[in-house]
Amino acid sequence: MPTMPGSPREGRGMTDPDDAARRILRGNDRGGYTVPTAGLYPYQWNWDSVFAAMGFATFDTDRAWQEVETLLSGQWPNGMVPHILFHKVEPTYFPGPDVWGGVGPVPSSGISQPPIAATFIRWLAELDPAGADRAKAMVGPLTDWHRWFFDWRGEGGAICVSHPWETGRDNSPDWDAPFAAIEPANLDAYYRRDTSHVAEDERPRRWDYDRYLTLVKLGHDCGWDEAHLREVSPFRVADPTMTFTLLRANRDLLALAQRFGAETAEIEDWIAAIEAGSERLWNADIGAYDTFDMRAGTHSGVISNASFLNWYAGVRPERMLDHFDRIAGFLPYGVPSADPQQPGFEPKRYWRGPVWAMMNWLIALGLRDAGHDARATALCDTTRSMILAGGFAEYFDPRDASPAGGRDFTWTAATWLAWASPSAKGFPWQA
Ligand code: GLC
Repeated sequence: MPTMPGSPREGRGMTDPDDAARRILRGNDRGGYTVPTAGLYPYQWNWDSVFAAMGFATFDTDRAWQEVETLLSGQWPNGMVPHILFHKVEPTYFPGPDVWGGVGPVPSSGISQPPIAATFIRWLAELDPAGADRAKAMVGPLTDWHRWFFDWRGEGGAICVSHPWETGRDNSPDWDAPFAAIEPANLDAYYRRDTSHVAEDERPRRWDYDRYLTLVKLGHDCGWDEAHLREVSPFRVADPTMTFTLLRANRDLLALAQRFGAETAEIEDWIAAIEAGSERLWNADIGAYDTFDMRAGTHSGVISNASFLNWYAGVRPERMLDHFDRIAGFLPYGVPSADPQQPGFEPKRYWRGPVWAMMNWLIALGLRDAGHDARATALCDTTRSMILAGGFAEYFDPRDASPAGGRDFTWTAATWLAWASPSAKGFPWQA
């Protein structure tokens, strides 16, 4: 482990990190669902829950299945599975259910999040053969969710988002250009709660928040009518997080559908469509995958940690290696969420530089599947050192692993248990 004079070492006192991680999951359990962390994020988040399930799966498979079942219980009639489910109102969070005005069976936000569920449900089903019926029951809902992306967000097979929060990479420099074209309008005065939990320089700026809320209002005011939003929203960006996680999820959904005798033709078509559509995210000028702004017709030019999900998606294994070797090793702890050699990099500000343990896990899964085993192992080792140094933080400063954002964080604890801990068993299948 590198020496880090003077940096906070919250993880250092942990005598039994596996036990500490399990205690975090239990502590964040609200009965059937897990909050990412108390206070800052007091509801059920979509992809956080899937990671939580994998953490639970290392010691309580029934609780793991329940986590995903609760998530799918919020599915909208049009198939969308929301990014936040507001099971019971908590005043510590803004924007809450009234601001969103979700139209599903559970109060919710109006956007989705990276669809990693099918991939990890497939894993869960292999870990826990007794859960086969529970997995089988999820094939229909997952197929409906994936169809929603194709119906409303597929642009020639590249998957678009209608809000940065949908990608899970809230304030990435990817959104700077599309956001600069948005003039916040008709916003009521609002009071942010996030900066009462976390230092301001580790969170998005007010400038970003005004635009986040402008887009939420636009969706709210039309009842989240996707056909309308596709026409009028100033924000429609094809994104590597969505495109690559959905491609991978379709491959795993196909395996589940074959196993349980469900329809497969439609899923095969989706796989072919995204494989072709992912080329739209290839920015030949920088030799990297990035976002593509459909409104402006331009690439962002930003190399983010999502740019390295091509291996996870099983796309072009020879690409992105040079950038990976440059970026993952540039600072002591990789993979930073934004390229440290590009302008816009801020090592403590959320998705503009910090390292996210669960993103490293997805990247490493892909690297291993693509046959880049040494890189996958090295990334696991770095992530382990980072958590041992900084504790179970939401994200970490790539210069010294100092913790940032929320603490006692569910997906960092889950990533530890299922992947980064020396006791983790790894993935049961090769993609
Ligand atoms: C932030 C993250 C997002 C995550 C959520 C809950 O909004 O950017 O990816 O799902 O917090 O942890």
